[in-house]
Amino acid sequence: MKRLHPIEIAPSLLAADLANIASEVRKVEQAGAPVLHFDVMDGHFVPNISMGVPVLASLRKATSMAVDAHLMIERPEEYIEAFAKAGADRILVHQEATVHLDRVLAQIREMKVEAGVVINPGTPVAALGEVLDKVDTVLVMSVNPGFGGQSFIPGAFAKIRELSELRSRYNYAFRIEVDGGVGLENVAELVRAGADTLVAGTTIFRSPDPAAAFRQMRDLAHDALTQKV
Ligand code: DX5
Ligand code: ZN
Repeated sequence: MKRLHPIEIAPSLLAADLANIASEVRKVEQAGAPVLHFDVMDGHFVPNISMGVPVLASLRKATSMAVDAHLMIERPEEYIEAFAKAGADRILVHQEATVHLDRVLAQIREMKVEAGVVINPGTPVAALGEVLDKVDTVLVMSVNPGFGGQSFIPGAFAKIRELSELRSRYNYAFRIEVDGGVGLENVAELVRAGADTLVAGTTIFRSPDPAAAFRQMRDLAHDALTQKV
């Protein structure tokens, strides 16, 4: 099957040992990870607080991986410039977090950063109808955001398939990303459903050997393309 985008396994920093960010990141970068997923939580949009602009700015000096900034924050429009200047390569905002989605996506593109939109498990793909031609990534949450280590919600599969069909029908170019509860047991099926970027926190950083876990996931994803699994 011809794919529009290379398959990416994106380790999620949230599950790493945050007292040693640089060395944790080095493990997956040396294993060949192309992109690092960076979760930003504000204690309002989601019931947890994680990392923000200064951490990203420091991290930017420690890695040349692309950084995927997943903003789980209210009023994302007020922080786009700060995250872009801190060095995010991709900025993803939740559809549910703003009433001015179109404007926020334009703001991201004006900063010369890739723009992504995210939907929670309770939000249908139909809510994105007006922006699918304006985004580089659509991220389907497969857990309710706020915490790592939660169980995968299977409803994400239908949304990934729906996005994949819409993409081919209308020649959209967005990447399809999935985040939450992704592990060795569902990688292959997610790739076959149409996911291009698979975020994995617990599976990679809570494993005794994050580099090996990354490679195992990547190999499973690639094998799924050739129908070996
Ligand atoms: C959850 C975050 C995820 C999280 C995924 O709100 O958006 O990126 O790190 O963690 P796992 O892979 O453990 O489900
Ligand atoms: Zn995330």
